[in-house]
Amino acid sequence: MKLLIQALLKIQKTALEANPAFMKARAAYSPEPGELGPIKYADYERFLPGFISAMGKFGLLEEILGEKKLCVLDIGTGPGYTPHLFNLFGHEAYGLDIPYSDAPKIYKEFTTALGIKRIVHRIQPFEPLPCFKVAFDLVIARWTCFNTKVSDDGSLASWDVPEWDYFLKDLLQYCTPNVRLFFELNKARGKHTFLDFFPNKELLAYFLSRGAYIKGRFISFPCCDRIRKG
Ligand SMILES: C[S@@+](CC[C@H](N)C(=O)[O-])C[C@H]1O[C@@H](n2cnc3c(N)ncnc32)[C@H](O)[C@@H]1O
Repeated sequence: MKLLIQALLKIQKTALEANPAFMKARAAYSPEPGELGPIKYADYERFLPGFISAMGKFGLLEEILGEKKLCVLDIGTGPGYTPHLFNLFGHEAYGLDIPYSDAPKIYKEFTTALGIKRIVHRIQPFEPLPCFKVAFDLVIARWTCFNTKVSDDGSLASWDVPEWDYFLKDLLQYCTPNVRLFFELNKARGKHTFLDFFPNKELLAYFLSRGAYIKGRFISFPCCDRIRKG
């Protein structure tokens, strides 16, 4: 696995360094060591090893290296490193994210330089996804927190079962029958809170009843039949 991670890292790094538009955009940033905000993505040498190795833990490297060419949706794509890596292996990957005007400018600069096909959409509770014209074989959402809502008292809260059930069923309309879903959700920053993603008892029971594999903050659905039927 270590060798595989190193090989993928080298391939992605070489592709980034051979891309003059990316290197130009990147040169405008000098992130501090340990920087946590979006600017950390400019330091790809520091960022990519952990990023690719985490993909390995979740079985995503097998998906990247598999023979079947996949149609991939990366929700909350940010700088676009996930679709970029899939595209390097001949897959067709799309990045979904909020409008550039609401996002840090590094995301626009990097996704543009990397030629990422970007779908502009803000995921919100009980709001339909845009009508995608393709069928996804794989859906990934990493280090993002689209799963938030504003409670009646105005505070930030995580989605409960009804919001997740609506979202997953809506998403599956745009997926192939054997689609796999991978979520590794982030902490969400509220006005006065820093909300950790941790499924409550009901949500945990819902995910498990729909065939999820859960490890810490990582949730995957290797088969989605039970979500469709539920
Ligand atoms: C920290 S970045 C993660 C980028 C990338 N997934 C990664 O693994 O490095 C979080 C991204 O999620 C996006 N995001 C947050 N809430 C969202 C929502 N409700 N709908 C769509 N994208 C969202 C943000 O705009 C941002 O680009």
